[in-house]
Amino acid sequence: TDVSMETLVALCKRRGFIFQSSEIYGGFNGFFDYGPLGVELKKNIRDCWWNDMVRRRDDVVGIETSIIMHPKVWEASGHVAGFTDPLVDCKTSKQRYRADQLFFAAVIVDGATVGYVSALESENTAGELQAAAETLKRKKAIQGQLAAVVAKDMTEAAPDEIALIPSPATGEPGSLTAPRSFNMMFQTNVGAMTDASSVAYLRPETAQGMFVDFKNVVDTGRVKLPFGIAQIGKSFRNEITPRNFIFRSREFEQMEMEYFIHEDADWATCHQEWIAWCRDWLLSIGLPDSHLSLYTHPKEKLSFYSRGTVDIMFKYPFGVQELWGIAARGNYDLTQHANASGKPQEIFDEATKKKFVPHVIEPAVGTDRIFLAVLCAAYAEEDVKDDKGNVEKRTVLRLSPRIAPVKVAVLPLLKNKEALVGRAKELYTKLKRRYAAFYDEGGAIGRRYRRQDEIGTPWCVTIDFDTIEKDGSFTLRERDSMTQKRIQEADLFALLEEQVY
Ligand code: GAP
Repeated sequence: TDVSMETLVALCKRRGFIFQSSEIYGGFNGFFDYGPLGVELKKNIRDCWWNDMVRRRDDVVGIETSIIMHPKVWEASGHVAGFTDPLVDCKTSKQRYRADQLFFAAVIVDGATVGYVSALESENTAGELQAAAETLKRKKAIQGQLAAVVAKDMTEAAPDEIALIPSPATGEPGSLTAPRSFNMMFQTNVGAMTDASSVAYLRPETAQGMFVDFKNVVDTGRVKLPFGIAQIGKSFRNEITPRNFIFRSREFEQMEMEYFIHEDADWATCHQEWIAWCRDWLLSIGLPDSHLSLYTHPKEKLSFYSRGTVDIMFKYPFGVQELWGIAARGNYDLTQHANASGKPQEIFDEATKKKFVPHVIEPAVGTDRIFLAVLCAAYAEEDVKDDKGNVEKRTVLRLSPRIAPVKVAVLPLLKNKEALVGRAKELYTKLKRRYAAFYDEGGAIGRRYRRQDEIGTPWCVTIDFDTIEKDGSFTLRERDSMTQKRIQEADLFALLEEQVY
């Protein structure tokens, strides 16, 4: 099923996955808090990534670098000069827009532009631009004439066009400014002085930590080319238009890995291998292949550091959008830092007896974007029959057991029977030493199942009189199929061991 963002946002708040930041003060645009269940889900996503990317590989090591680094890092990396988004102001409404997300249409009849159609704010990628233009064209069909429509974003607007494009805020032409560069790094001051000499930045990507510590990692000995350095941590960007819940926020978490290769290595093949690895990993945490696709950045739109970028795209409710960027950065970063610091960033090649600066392939993903993708894909509403045969609606999150915030719920059939409660609590205590488990004795058993369904708990176990009086087995109820079967404690642990990794 295709879930709406409103439904997801409501579920996230109701069940304690995600709240607005500073909600009692009216919220703070572009910032979010993770609640008790959200923090578990997010931690599981992060832990799966770390285990698969770092611990289970022999060629990747982890680091954790500081969020505020020497300001020279960001000069050398190119971020001070180039980490900008094009900004457009509406002079009348004071609204701000990202110029590359503000599409307008020029209406052309017999080769001559006869008008401009109001700009439309959209996060859509270039491929969807034409559809947006068609919508605009239908809205503003000029005198029944069949006009051609050329859709462009504001970065492509000619200076004389800008004065003629109606503002999306007011509908009036003449109030949009020409696009100008807006640097997205948050600034702060380090130390007691608040002047130009104390300016520092909150990192806009975790990647520079890996480049700046490259020599330290190499010199401490455990790695040999090809190898990767990975890091998970917060990044900050002063996004002009934070949007779509946690998809584009101003404070977010990144999971990035820099894979260093020989300068003569076949980088294009290595790039493809990492794209495949990332896609497989997304499948392993339960994202459906049907929602994933690849987008190759056109050469002329590459980031300043990249020689080739492929994004793994996800079909979100608001469109197909970037989830994971896999970039081939050449040796741009290490070379920049070598030049700026005067410290060579080279490796000695035993075979050729020559020094060289390694090249790098970088898979970079946002934890929050995975979180959102996972929720979108997992959400389902179904009609099911209750004990009496009545049809009722159930909401279920079909989360992979790898990342579900609660793995197993333990439910005594009745809460006023000491034997049932005692055995249930004993099992619960044993389970929670290794797995996120939940104990619930309140309400009818069907209602307790529904509560677990809604937060994505893959299994419930119910302790009943047969457990106490017969062979010790209990009921294992499976979330997706809703089937129930008897299971022994050892088999439950074996099931968890196999499915939760
Ligand atoms: N080191 C390269 C780099 O940072 P990026 O494409 O700018 O590349 C990588 O960011 C990933 O970080 C994106 O694919 C996305 O998943 C996540 N990301 C970027 N900006 C974000 C934002 N404002 N909010 C949430 N996630 C974001």
